[in-house]
This record gives sequence, structure tokens and C-alpha cells, in this order.
Amino acid sequence: MSDPFVVRSLDEIRFWSRIMKEHSLFLKLGFRCEDTQLIQEADEFYSIFESIENKSHAYSEETDPKTIHRFNSKVYNAATHIWAFKRKVLGLVLRCKLPGANNFPLLIDHVSREANYFRKRLKELNTGTLEPISDAIIYENVFFLRIMADHAKFISHLLDPSERQLVEQSRNFSFEFDQLLNQARDLDSMKPQSQTGPLLGQFLDQNRVSVKSLRDFKKTARELIEACRIKSIIHPLLADHVFREAERFLFIIDMFERYLNTNDVKKDNRKEPHSIEF
Ligand SMILES: [Fe+2]
Ligand SMILES: [Fe+2]
Repeated sequence: MSDPFVVRSLDEIRFWSRIMKEHSLFLKLGFRCEDTQLIQEADEFYSIFESIENKSHAYSEETDPKTIHRFNSKVYNAATHIWAFKRKVLGLVLRCKLPGANNFPLLIDHVSREANYFRKRLKELNTGTLEPISDAIIYENVFFLRIMADHAKFISHLLDPSERQLVEQSRNFSFEFDQLLNQARDLDSMKPQSQTGPLLGQFLDQNRVSVKSLRDFKKTARELIEACRIKSIIHPLLADHVFREAERFLFIIDMFERYLNTNDVKKDNRKEPHSIEF
């Protein structure tokens, strides 16, 4: 029988190591030609996460949990290093040390938040500590709603300004997700009284509707970019990357929804981090 700890660890690492690998490429593309040291560091992170990704696919659900425990620690260290690298680059950009470089500070901060999320998840898996489900529902939604709001902003800024309709649509998504994020933060500040089944259920339903429509917009944008039908400086891989992150958010919302439908939020029956019905 497969161990939920192994299944969950491999799922997180397979998803996020690919994401970290792609961040290395996006950061590299945004550096100036003369930033050879930073380009080299980004290349190193690309290879590190590529090999982690390959290794995660070589392991299976039957792999010894002790081996996965060691693997998680190794990946945790790599995620910590790329997080520190991203924060270093953010510091350089904010102090105007890289004039003319092409990564927005918000994008660098965004990818560092994703690295930090990955580290946190690995730590939870290895230590077996988890937030109560009702806290996890709010935390994960606050995290991902902000990620989605950022994506909408990046898309609107990286499309060619002459793509007026698409720019307008992405601005609307940015506004919509900023609103949802504020609602999520309000729910967070009303904790624990706000953590009732009906309120959390409605919260997930409302978020799901908006994430689905943003996911579909990203899918269309990805297809248009791949076919070179629109003007932008969005790398096709970036378009696919943000699409996959929206899919991930939907997967998490559905997992929480199933949990709410089958359990009382007050009685947290989880044995393993996020080991619900995989
Ligand atoms: Fe990302
Ligand atoms: Fe992202």
C-alpha cells in the first residue's frame, strides 16, 4: 500500500521543482548581458532543479519513506538557496544596481514567495506538523489569491500596450483578485469565529468561480502566444507556467471542498499533511 507521506511529497516536489527550474530561466532572461555572474547562478539553479525533478519522477509511491524523508530535506535546502538568490536579486533591483534589467521587482518577490511556500510545505511534510484544516483553508487561499492577482498584473504589463482589449481584461482580473484577496484577509482577521462550515464553503465556491475564469483566460492567452497571434513580450513557457499555477490552485480548492463536504471542520481528522483523498 502506498504511504500518503510519500505520495504527497512526490506530488509537491514534481510540481514545484519544475516551477523553480522555470523561475531560474525567467530570471536569467531578465538579466543584462553583462550580468554574467547572476546568469551563471541562475543556470546552476536550473540544473539543480532539473535534476531534482528527474529524481522525483524516478521515485515511486512504493519508495521507502526514509529515502523520501532524506530527499525532502535535500530539496528543502535547494529551495532555501533559490529563495535567498531571489531575495538577493530583489535587493539589487530595488537599489537600482541592475539598471535596464527586465524583471519587475514584484515578479522577483512573487517567485521568492513561491519558493518560500515550497520550503514551508517540505518542512511540514518532514516534521509531520500541520495547521488545522480551517486555518489551512484560509492560509492557502490568501497565498494563492495573491499569486493569481500578481499573474494578472504581470500579463497586463507584458502584453503589448496596443493589445488594448486583452490588457483591459487582465486589468479586470487584477482588480477582481485584489478584491478576493482582501475578502480572504478579512476572513482571516475574523478567525476563529469566521471558520464555520458555511462561510468556508462559500469562500471556496466564490474563489473557484474566479480562478476558473482566470485559468481559462490564461489558457487562451497561452494558445494565442504560442501561435504568435498576439503582440507581447510574454515567453510561451511563462504563459504555460501561470496556467499550471492556476490549475494547482483549483486542485487545492477542490481538495478542501471535498474535505468540507465529508467532515466537520471542528474535528480535524487529518493524519498526514493534506492527505485527503488522493
Ligand atoms: Fe511561478
Ligand atoms: Fe506564479
